Amino acid sequence: MTTSVSLGTGASMPIVGLGTWRASEGQVEQAVRAAILAGYRHIDGAFVYQNEAEVGAGLKAMMQQGVVKREELFIVSKLWCTFHQRSLVRGACEKTLQDLQLDALDLYLMHFPIGFQPGDNLFPLGTDDQVIGDDSNFLDTWEAMEELVDCGLVKAIGISNFNHQQIETILNKPGLKYKPANNQIECHPYLTQDKLISYCHSKGISVTAYSPLGSPDRPWAKADEPSLLEDPKINAIARQHNKTAAQVLIRFHIQRNVAVIPKSSNPQRITENFQVFDFELSPEDMKTILSFNRNFRGFKMEWASQHKDFPLNAEF
Ligand code: A2P
Repeated sequence: MTTSVSLGTGASMPIVGLGTWRASEGQVEQAVRAAILAGYRHIDGAFVYQNEAEVGAGLKAMMQQGVVKREELFIVSKLWCTFHQRSLVRGACEKTLQDLQLDALDLYLMHFPIGFQPGDNLFPLGTDDQVIGDDSNFLDTWEAMEELVDCGLVKAIGISNFNHQQIETILNKPGLKYKPANNQIECHPYLTQDKLISYCHSKGISVTAYSPLGSPDRPWAKADEPSLLEDPKINAIARQHNKTAAQVLIRFHIQRNVAVIPKSSNPQRITENFQVFDFELSPEDMKTILSFNRNFRGFKMEWASQHKDFPLNAEF
């Protein structure tokens, strides 16, 4: 039974983690505690979620109560786009570590390949509603992230929302010290990402699927957009296995050797989302689920469509 994904650094990452995006204030500490009590050992966060201090409080409580030791946990965070300048990377990582009350991260991802104008405004937009970029280059940002490994602040570094050409650019960088250990991307049955996953795996880069349940709480969701959790065909497969649609949507990634980070703030659903190691989708089920692909993105990143490093114009 697959329970972890290899990072290619000698370390491995538990295949199911707790997502914390939109886990709001007053809820996320409880969510982290509930997840650890339910058996989760991988917590996925990011500076831009603005809840890392609460995540840290949950982690600390569980360690102080002796429920879990630091070395049993796999903690992920992400460098926000306003910190892509070389000189800002280390401070951004240190702030995250301070909020999480940790000495080091297991994995630190560049959240997007896109650098934003630095400053307190995390989403600096111009009058055209396009993000205001900076003059950084993600290769320089990557070099600064490599230094975080060397100084022991992070054990592994990776990327998020990169297309395969951008990954190739990193892999071909003269003097590359560490290749990305992970690419975290939107992935679910409506966006199966076959080509990008195959590409990453062929380069020894692990993949994490975000938005595995389709992020029904994304603020910009439109009424006419498809709903994975309510999809009758997903629900039919779930019934055959005596499982819920969410459990099928999570299990789907495990069987592709892709890590998956469902978000929930509800202790019952947090437990439900981890009960995915006691059943198996048949090859036929997997084929059927893969056939639901319609290249539908919940995260279209329209605010960056004019940015020089916008990742979503490439085929994969
Ligand atoms: P809640 O936090 O109230 O449980 P994604 O991981 O794709 O971003 O989806 C997260 C969304 O899905 C949240 O709104 C979350 O709500 C909801 N959710 C999480 N787990 C389940 C589940 N097992 N069944 C139904 N909805 C769920």
